Amino acid sequence: MKILITGSAGFIGFSFAKKLLEKKIYKIVGIDNFNDYYDINLKKKRNNILKNYKNYKFNKVDITDKKKIEKIFKNEKFDFVFHFAAQAGVRYSINFPRKYMESNLMGFFNILENVKKYRVKRLFYASSSSVYGENKNFPLNEKENIFPKNIYALSKKVNEEIANIFNRYYKVKLTGLRFFTIYGEWGRPDMMMLKFINSYYNNKTFELYNFGNHVRDFTYIGDAVAIMYLLLKKHKKLDNNEIFNICSNKPINLKEIILFMKKNEINPKIKKVTLQKADILKTHGNNSKLIRFTKFKKFSDWKESLKRTIEWYQKNML
Ligand SMILES: NC(=O)c1ccc[n+]([C@@H]2O[C@H](COP(=O)([O-])OP(=O)(O)OC[C@H]3O[C@@H](n4cnc5c(N)ncnc54)[C@H](O)[C@@H]3O)[C@@H](O)[C@H]2O)c1
Repeated sequence: MKILITGSAGFIGFSFAKKLLEKKIYKIVGIDNFNDYYDINLKKKRNNILKNYKNYKFNKVDITDKKKIEKIFKNEKFDFVFHFAAQAGVRYSINFPRKYMESNLMGFFNILENVKKYRVKRLFYASSSSVYGENKNFPLNEKENIFPKNIYALSKKVNEEIANIFNRYYKVKLTGLRFFTIYGEWGRPDMMMLKFINSYYNNKTFELYNFGNHVRDFTYIGDAVAIMYLLLKKHKKLDNNEIFNICSNKPINLKEIILFMKKNEINPKIKKVTLQKADILKTHGNNSKLIRFTKFKKFSDWKESLKRTIEWYQKNML
């Protein structure tokens, strides 16, 4: 079985590609443009790990490059596509909205057109918890109204809507994955947990937005990857077009995380700053649909996973 993973040098794409390659039964083709949104060396390190597997093939391509993307689809004949390549980040979207239009809208559309043309069995694509905006009907289920609050969230909402149209008119099969704050080994240095650890080891001041009064439904990468694997295995039972929250349903206050970090001797200087206007105060997803379908039950204990993340950082990033 051949699977395309876009954004394969990114956090989630890399982690999922590695999981599939470890099974030894999948051929994986990875695509990434190594953009410089965060440390390119981290992306290269991830990609080098994948390149050690003989079933892995990598293409440095931008998903907005229509011709090159089509050529890859034509040559490879994928069974499934997992689309993670996107311009991520909520705060960055205030200053660089065009990047979201290009990668998240045109890039997404290029992938979708080829999924249709080359009859891929199903496209799994990354959406985001940020589509819910400030909806406070916690825990938020997939049927809740969505109110994107920034260009990033809007780009994900539009992805979901284009997906609906492609399903309705062209019978393309799709599964949207609304990720909620994924963290863990090989994670993203622009996100809270790794940013905090990084600040400590690089002697930088950590800026704590909204004085730490944020709550996030932190979800461990190991759980997210195991869940995606179950979705792939059960793909025949999936509806033709549906969306899942990928979340642990256990919201944690940032202050609690900082206390735990300090207990583990991760103690950077902290500067408390006011709320950033693109930020959302709280995320808390309902995962009962996901659990019902996948039968995945045992979400990791966040303290244990965070400890593992700190140990991974000390071993690999210092
Ligand atoms: N990590 C999270 O908590 C989280 C939460 C919600 C949604 N998501 C979504 O999940 C997906 C993966 O997120 P991630 O955390 O792994 O982010 P990431 O930034 O680590 O990975 C994205 C990868 O895509 C690549 N990329 C970006 N634009 C590209 C383009 N035009 N062409 C080719 N490659 C391109 C980047 O170089 C990067 O390696 C994204 O769509 C993101 O919006 C992530």
